[in-house]
Amino acid sequence: MKLFDVYPRFDIEIDRAEGVYLYDKEGSQYLDLYGGHGVISIGHSHPSFVKSVKDQLDKISFYSNSIQMPTQEELANKLTEISGYKDYKLFLCNSGAEANENAIKLASFHTGKSKVIAFKGSFHGRTAAALNVTDNIKLSAPINMNNFPVEFIELNNEEQLIQAISSDDVCAVICEGIQGVGGLDMPSNDYLKFLKNQCSQNNIILILDEIQSGSGRTGKYFAHQFADIEADIITMAKGIGNGFPLAGLLISPSIQAKPGMLGTTFGGSYLACSAGLSVVEVTEKENLMMNSTEINKYIKEELGHLKIKGKGLMIGIEFNFPIKELRSKLLFDYKIFTGSSANPNLLRILPPLTITKVQISPFIKAIKELT
Ligand SMILES: Cc1ncc(COP(=O)(O)O)c(C=O)c1O
Repeated sequence: MKLFDVYPRFDIEIDRAEGVYLYDKEGSQYLDLYGGHGVISIGHSHPSFVKSVKDQLDKISFYSNSIQMPTQEELANKLTEISGYKDYKLFLCNSGAEANENAIKLASFHTGKSKVIAFKGSFHGRTAAALNVTDNIKLSAPINMNNFPVEFIELNNEEQLIQAISSDDVCAVICEGIQGVGGLDMPSNDYLKFLKNQCSQNNIILILDEIQSGSGRTGKYFAHQFADIEADIITMAKGIGNGFPLAGLLISPSIQAKPGMLGTTFGGSYLACSAGLSVVEVTEKENLMMNSTEINKYIKEELGHLKIKGKGLMIGIEFNFPIKELRSKLLFDYKIFTGSSANPNLLRILPPLTITKVQISPFIKAIKELT
């Protein structure tokens, strides 16, 4: 049987990984500045992570959400501690799209309304509701065309927001902490404060998609915390599992749970929780949020002549030429994995949060040589 051919793939076969490095089957070492779409947060094969998942596997890997699961509560407590979101409830699922799907559904259940406001350049996933609020028509099939009403507005445009929420059927505004796929544009602190106020005043649920920008990547646990606001629902995935499928929603205490609202078979499995717990513990123990901030500063010092977007270790470097060839040279000549975005001139990097100055310096040298 052949694979369903939906991805362009590099002709590279990775055999093993450790920390910030990947090794192919010939033993060549690659510097991983992309973490498989921003998934690797505490580094590949981190010994604590490996031990945590292996120990759990020896005990029990899975049972459904029909029994008491103290590991889920342990993870909820750890996430409260690291995020500062007190009294919120945790719902666990398996992927980013699923987290957003559930967040949108919950907002609609809670408010009894059905229109969603999303942003130009947004990416929220490929399941029906998540795709409907994603600003890329090319990803939609005919079946996705008659979904709930959505309006895409410009980031940081207060007038457009006022206009969009003037109809009384808006249940949610969904916003990325920093746009990932779109190209590292972000809501300003003032705009987020304005958004929060408008949502509160109009019985609209503010959903912050921190799937790519969360897990400490930006130097705070969630990117929107730079604005000192609290969202009603925060969606998480990618970095919180460091490669183990784990996603979740933090849900405001004002939203009441009712049986049947949300559900999942696999979400919150013992194995997923053991992975998630280890990620939070390592993030705290190794001060990875502080490291993100420091490495960002270092990159800006070294590459200050370039246009650098983003925060912490969610970085976009924007050139005045398409980066396709540059990215290919970085990968094949310098053995450095990087990412792209919807902006053809923007190189996106999402390195493991453990990366050191020494480890990232070959990238800085390569950028200086190549541009
Ligand atoms: C901001 C954001 N939201 C949602 C998703 C979808 O996540 P997943 O691929 O786990 O469904 C992504 C994936 O890139 C993302 O970057």
